[in-house]
Amino acid sequence: MLTIDVDKYRQKENSEFYLDIIQGLTQVPKTLPSKYFYDKEGDGIFQSIMSSPDYYLTRCEMEIFTCQAPQIVDSLISKNLDFELIELGPGNCVKSIHLLRALITANASFNYVPIDISENVISELQSFLPDNIPDLRFDGLVGDYFDSLTSYSLLPTKRKVVMCLGGNIGNMTVAESNQFCKKLRSYLHPGDQCIIGFDLVKHPAIIKRAYDDGDGFTSEFNLNLLRRINRELGADFKIDQFEHYCSYDPLTGAANSYLVCLSDMVVHLPGASILFEKDECIWTEISQKYSKAQIRQMAGNNGFIHTAEFLDARSWFMDAIWTAV
Ligand code: AVJ
Repeated sequence: MLTIDVDKYRQKENSEFYLDIIQGLTQVPKTLPSKYFYDKEGDGIFQSIMSSPDYYLTRCEMEIFTCQAPQIVDSLISKNLDFELIELGPGNCVKSIHLLRALITANASFNYVPIDISENVISELQSFLPDNIPDLRFDGLVGDYFDSLTSYSLLPTKRKVVMCLGGNIGNMTVAESNQFCKKLRSYLHPGDQCIIGFDLVKHPAIIKRAYDDGDGFTSEFNLNLLRRINRELGADFKIDQFEHYCSYDPLTGAANSYLVCLSDMVVHLPGASILFEKDECIWTEISQKYSKAQIRQMAGNNGFIHTAEFLDARSWFMDAIWTAV
């Protein structure tokens, strides 16, 4: 029931998107990569998710940065040296801006290096930062995190602090995030540090609600992936025949999101026809939650010492400071 003429699309501008989608939909069970949530529409829906009362993550991490930035500065051993503060996926900088200001108040000598694959994110920062933090030195980089880091690891005498906030590490499985941390460690030298945001395990109902919010934003976010595939790849998903479903498993700490197909159907993409059975689920996202003990252990497993940890008042989120050994 599956016919594919993938070669025809290899040359096309969005061929990587096309090939990833085809690869995901021809797997058993079907999957779609969560990185494709974030087109213009998806970015907007994600903003709505973040303002939804049920989605606690952003507010928790915001509280940590607004209330504890001076303490975070104190935990950075580089603060008296000239260092590079590198942020992977800075977004609009609303959290890190508190740290940037606290560092300037503490007279730290540093260069801020936001790295993002989105040119849009970096160009917005380029106009926002000089107006809002006049004394900040910064270099925005557009590109892959690790490709961009390479040029910085060529300066071994300069200390580095790498930030990865927002629970972005949550979109990886435990195995993938360990690989990510090992890879990150390979770009650092002893004494360099990381600030990593982790969403913590908590009452399962609270976690489940965050990925199935009462306003239906998460459902829209998930369904937008199919809309995007229709828009950009000319597919014919019948959106009203798919439904958002999420589960949280306290045994593994994984919140998983799916799109459930409500009837038997064939979906056409250029060069491919894909068969769906009623009640079949497409796995679209993992949002992994960690225990405090797991995070402390993860540091040691990947070449770091767990130097400090900052929690919000409810202990729902952790920003961990790790030091490379
Ligand atoms: C951006 C990865 C932190 O997993 O909580 C929010 C994305 N997905 N609601 C998360 C998301 C559904 C979010 N991260």
